[in-house]
Amino acid sequence: MQQSVEELIARRERLLGVGTPLFYEQPIHLVRGDGAYVYDADGKRYVDMYNNVPCVGHANPHVVEAMRAQAATINVHSRYLHQGVLDYAERIVAKHHASLERVVFSCTGTEANEIAIGMARFATQGRGIICTDRAYHGNSELVNKLTWADCQSDPEIRWVHYPQTYRPIEDGLNEAELADRYLSEVEAAINSFAEQDIPLAGMLVCPLLANEGLPNIPKGYMAGAAKLVRNAGGLFIADEVQAGFCRSGQWWGYETSEVVPDIVSMGKPMGNGLPLSGVVARGDLVDTFRKRSGYFNTFAASPLQAAVGAAVLDVIEKEQLQQHVAELGDYLRDGIARVQCEAMGDIRGHGLFVGIDWVSNLEARTPDREGAVKMVNKLKEKGILTSNAGSEDNIIKLRPPLVFGRQHADLFLEAFEQTVRELY
Ligand SMILES: Cc1ncc(COP(=O)(O)O)c(C=O)c1O
Repeated sequence: MQQSVEELIARRERLLGVGTPLFYEQPIHLVRGDGAYVYDADGKRYVDMYNNVPCVGHANPHVVEAMRAQAATINVHSRYLHQGVLDYAERIVAKHHASLERVVFSCTGTEANEIAIGMARFATQGRGIICTDRAYHGNSELVNKLTWADCQSDPEIRWVHYPQTYRPIEDGLNEAELADRYLSEVEAAINSFAEQDIPLAGMLVCPLLANEGLPNIPKGYMAGAAKLVRNAGGLFIADEVQAGFCRSGQWWGYETSEVVPDIVSMGKPMGNGLPLSGVVARGDLVDTFRKRSGYFNTFAASPLQAAVGAAVLDVIEKEQLQQHVAELGDYLRDGIARVQCEAMGDIRGHGLFVGIDWVSNLEARTPDREGAVKMVNKLKEKGILTSNAGSEDNIIKLRPPLVFGRQHADLFLEAFEQTVRELY
């Protein structure tokens, strides 16, 4: 017999622990997915505007078949030769800038960032890591130290304010001056490490600042930060766990800012739901990491991961999802901008990654978390799944599977306009 939402919540708390996070005031019980749609236990259909992991669509048949076929053939750990793993490694490396030559596979974004930091520390013999003040890069003890780093104290970590144009750190500056103003913090972080005799290992940053709230970044900031870090002997690390795999309309988030990182971590959409992540980097960096760490991960670099990862690439390539994402992202943002509402302070993002900065006072740009939460819950009632995020939790975050089509965008835009009319 199907259990009610209330029964499932009670059982969940008993089995998984009180405080296990759940979305929405009235949580939903999902039982099935198909493309950009998910369905609850009562058969209600939702347009999934939130989940980037099933990037080529929920239950994508090509990916499911690749998973089945490989699992039915062989799946072992990575200390055997397997051609499929190398074929996939070749394909994923080829998606990156030519200077990024080798890959280390892992299972989660957290692990990928652990590897990236370790790689930078081995290569530079440094320890210091710079991150932004409102970052999230994962949940291990090390990587979690970069989460909202200004609340934590670790002598080997320094934070800088994340750069943004909407609520700039200082008023009255043009874009170039603003970039320089934010870059002066990177310089100060580097100097402060030097003063304490902590050699720099690098800077780890999401190229789209996804968790910070997807702000418009003053032009020149990323390239400027990479230059400062490299001049101080460090490496520039891009966390592409959210930004990668065509999310921005470019293959990688770093391509939106004209910077080529030394090390790139990837995850979430890479396996369309199968745990698959990895780090690509210059050959010398990977070789040093391999020699110094002897890294092994039971479930990583397996034939199953490779088969599924390759199937994801097949779909992205065959369906030309990069171009699709760029076009549809513009369509979605234009549609949102046509809805007149004083609470929409800023509409921004790249490709199919849209942030709507919800405000209670347009002129003062006052973040309105409560308003964003109301919108998200109302949209859910209307069959649209979104969430609120960002440093103030007031950004309505739209990040649908890449196969999200114009028909889905229209369903969203209709529900969005209706919700705005009801609440404002
Ligand atoms: C930018 C970014 N990096 C890393 C991670 C960690 O990935 P995972 O949850 O797979 O460990 C996340 C997860 O939300 C993320 O958003």
